[in-house]
Amino acid sequence: MLRKPFIAGNWKMNMTVASAKKLIEELKPLVKDANCDVCLCVPAVLIPEAVKAAQGSNIKIGAQNIHWSASGAYTGEISADMLKDYGVQYAIIGHSERRQYFGETDETVNKRTLAALNSGITPIVCVGETLSERENGETENVIYRQLEQGLKGIDDVSKIVIAYEPVWAIGTGKTATDAQAQETVAFIRKTAGKLFCPKCAEKLIIQYGGSMNAGNCKGLMAQPDIDGGLIGGASLKLDFATIVNYDK
Ligand code: PGA
Repeated sequence: MLRKPFIAGNWKMNMTVASAKKLIEELKPLVKDANCDVCLCVPAVLIPEAVKAAQGSNIKIGAQNIHWSASGAYTGEISADMLKDYGVQYAIIGHSERRQYFGETDETVNKRTLAALNSGITPIVCVGETLSERENGETENVIYRQLEQGLKGIDDVSKIVIAYEPVWAIGTGKTATDAQAQETVAFIRKTAGKLFCPKCAEKLIIQYGGSMNAGNCKGLMAQPDIDGGLIGGASLKLDFATIVNYDK
């Protein structure tokens, strides 16, 4: 298999120690025969409990952000090595909510992505256009810029995961159509081939994210360039297992 499908959950700022533990325990038997890689990106404070609960299963645990420095005077931040210490294997970088509410830019996305790679954490780098950018025909320009600037200095693009998340589809119940998602994801692969090398772009895992759920996952996953999903709302319930088992 050139690209193993990869379904990741993004819990955002949800769950408690008790509910996290309960959901992971319930998910474990339901996802154990998955043909894809499975990960849950949980709030930082829940990482220790989530790692413990997922032990011995095929569920990997990820973070939702990473600071680019190894240590220092950065109140409130968490470094890649600290996450690695707990067994974190993936980290979402540059989610649109961070770009929108926390001043994330292509430059900081780039620094965080490089820091993750340096520590052996696989970054899930999010890109995507807003509704007005789509309506103005700027989707490809915006995504080209996010890729060119956000991924600067990476030696092999197949070492990261990219999540295409149209901002207008996140948490709105408005999913991109299968064709819209495929078209933009194919553009991302073509651009990665141009910016890096066509061979690495062929190996690059690209997820779709934005109101992906148990009902629409099959159609999205059937698209030739879509290798997985980044699941928000539906990853907070057992529906996540249905998505992980999309091919059964
Ligand atoms: P959603 O979120 O599935 O709730 O739309 C996806 C995401 O923001 O990663």
